[in-house]
Amino acid sequence: MKKTIMLVLALALLLPGMMLFAGGEQESAVEQDNSVEVLHWWTSGGEAAALGVLKEDLNGQGIEWIDSPIAGGGGTEAMTVLRSRATSGNPPAAVQMLGFDIIDWAELGVLADLNEIAEAEGWDAVVPEAIKRFSKYNGNWIAAPVNVHSTNWVWANKKIMDELGIEQPTTWDEYIAAMDAAKAAGYIGLAHGGQAWQDATIFDGVVVSVGGPEFYKAAMVDTDDAALRSDKMTEVFARMETLRGYMDDNFSGRDWNLATAMVIEGQALFQMMGDWAKGEFFNAGKVPGEDFVAFRTPGSQGTVTFNSDQFVFFAVEESKQKAQGLLAQAVLSPSFQIAFNTIKGSVPSRTDVSDAEFTIIGKAAMAELAEANANGTLFGSMAHGHSVPAAIKNAMYDVITAHLNGQLSTADAADALADAVAAAAQ
Ligand code: BGC
Repeated sequence: MKKTIMLVLALALLLPGMMLFAGGEQESAVEQDNSVEVLHWWTSGGEAAALGVLKEDLNGQGIEWIDSPIAGGGGTEAMTVLRSRATSGNPPAAVQMLGFDIIDWAELGVLADLNEIAEAEGWDAVVPEAIKRFSKYNGNWIAAPVNVHSTNWVWANKKIMDELGIEQPTTWDEYIAAMDAAKAAGYIGLAHGGQAWQDATIFDGVVVSVGGPEFYKAAMVDTDDAALRSDKMTEVFARMETLRGYMDDNFSGRDWNLATAMVIEGQALFQMMGDWAKGEFFNAGKVPGEDFVAFRTPGSQGTVTFNSDQFVFFAVEESKQKAQGLLAQAVLSPSFQIAFNTIKGSVPSRTDVSDAEFTIIGKAAMAELAEANANGTLFGSMAHGHSVPAAIKNAMYDVITAHLNGQLSTADAADALADAVAAAAQ
């Protein structure tokens, strides 16, 4: 990464018009390009449907959308492509980004400054602090938050629940008993895709479930060595091992949306996934409460592990800045926030948007987010780059995945996690 940083810095020095973000309203003497290239990882059916809302919005403003989709939840692959594009002097105008990645790029000084738009649109007053922490750098706006997702959810096939007389589980034991019943009836208990970011997404919820919010904060946010090595962490890995027993044999490498499809189609009872899964149910025409239900990872109720998709804008030549400005403005407009988030499965990134058009799950998610924020139980998702910087997150991914794949025993996993985090932090 060091070498990359140097190269990117060199690129930054060469870029014309650095940090002179014109904004959507400003007249420019330079002839404008009117197209905007957007690098993102919204490639599933539900994600693409939500993105369609944004594309249409911009097309309506005369802006052509140049799509650069790079599949892979959590953005791991997208960030790899971004690094190589930036180092070769060809960064896209706009990029979907998460948490600490935003701060990393801001530190390099290659992002456009959104202050003018933020001030004109009053972002400061409506975007919550937990999100602003990643949208602003040194007091300047450098990212436009599109939404807020959270990761400690379970998605369930309602028809299987009804058929087997399964009540919505509220405790870990009930949760396991439900999967036992499904397995005995020939269903897959837990649909999962064995990719590091998906393994880590489950882990977020299990950490809270085992140890509560204080433990999540100590281990996943503060990376406290004693918490990482604790018996509680061993218990987290023990639960991960138990969950592995309810996954099917073909889980390795499966995309998350294909795992969601297994619940949608009635092959599997549950999936533990962020609320972008809801977008897949909607896209398949499924109705919450009738076809599917969602609940917090049992034992994690009251705590929310969140992530927020944001767009960052690279400092590009002046002719491309108007289109960037219109995109930034569009994503935070209240009407877009409703139109997009009701499809995406996320909740608005501004606090002044009505929940009237959201489904029962969306309304609950909005209320829980506000409540967790007020109670001090709202934390950044480790799996989705909001609790620790990428190097530490990747070190955690490696251990979590090696353990889930049976390459590391439950007894050794907590120490391995603490060691990996310590090495990555150096
Ligand atoms: C993003 C979501 C996306 C999911 C799966 C997460 O990192 O925040 O917007 O739907 O990955 O692709």
